[in-house]
Amino acid sequence: MTTPHINAPAGAFADTVLLPGDPARARWIATHLLDDAQQVTDVRNMLGFTGTWRGKRVSMMGTGMGIPSCSIYATELVREYGVRRLVRVGTCGTSAADVALGDIVVALGASTDSRVNRQRFGGHDLAALASFALVRAVADAAQQAGQPLRIGNVFSTDMFYHPDPALFDLLDRHGVLGVEMEAAGLYGVAAELGVEAVAVLTVSDQIRNKQAMPVAQRETGLEAMLRIVLDAVTA
Ligand code: HPA
Repeated sequence: MTTPHINAPAGAFADTVLLPGDPARARWIATHLLDDAQQVTDVRNMLGFTGTWRGKRVSMMGTGMGIPSCSIYATELVREYGVRRLVRVGTCGTSAADVALGDIVVALGASTDSRVNRQRFGGHDLAALASFALVRAVADAAQQAGQPLRIGNVFSTDMFYHPDPALFDLLDRHGVLGVEMEAAGLYGVAAELGVEAVAVLTVSDQIRNKQAMPVAQRETGLEAMLRIVLDAVTA
């Protein structure tokens, strides 16, 4: 069995797939955190792996950047491989004064400048929402680990290099916690296909003052977040 973008055999993916943007991150999670991890797909080097965490089967797969790329993999994983839970694990920028580098943001909802959800929802505005069950599971696992979370709205942009700096004032006035490029599309796919999704994001950039998380902190911060997510999805 293969799809246009995934060459894994039937049954190769677990019910739950963690979705980092970077396929190298998928490999890092598989080799550093999972037990018995096997690579299951490599089309376009968009690597996917299945292994176990505390004895429970779980998969990882890179999605690339942006809503179109992420939506392709999410759709094929659900339609062709029967995946039921899609968990984006990535980074976001922030322009909010009260959100710090290294904070973990759970995207309860995802606003966007993309039109994909209007296209799939008859021209109307779909409230792009995370699965409550997954949000609660992540919140419970974070509490267990003593890790504070920010839970709220993010903004999924089609433009990493956004031409209008006033966008960030608008986001701040509306309490948006983070800016990334996939969650709204992922939540739209999940709504359309009747599966669960959530995006859990480490804040890697402060857009206002161009501060970025140092590389070493990126690694350790991301690992703490990943352990919480893995605990949450296997609880
Ligand atoms: N913008 C969009 N996506 C991102 C950012 C950002 O500043 N940081 C990490 N992902």
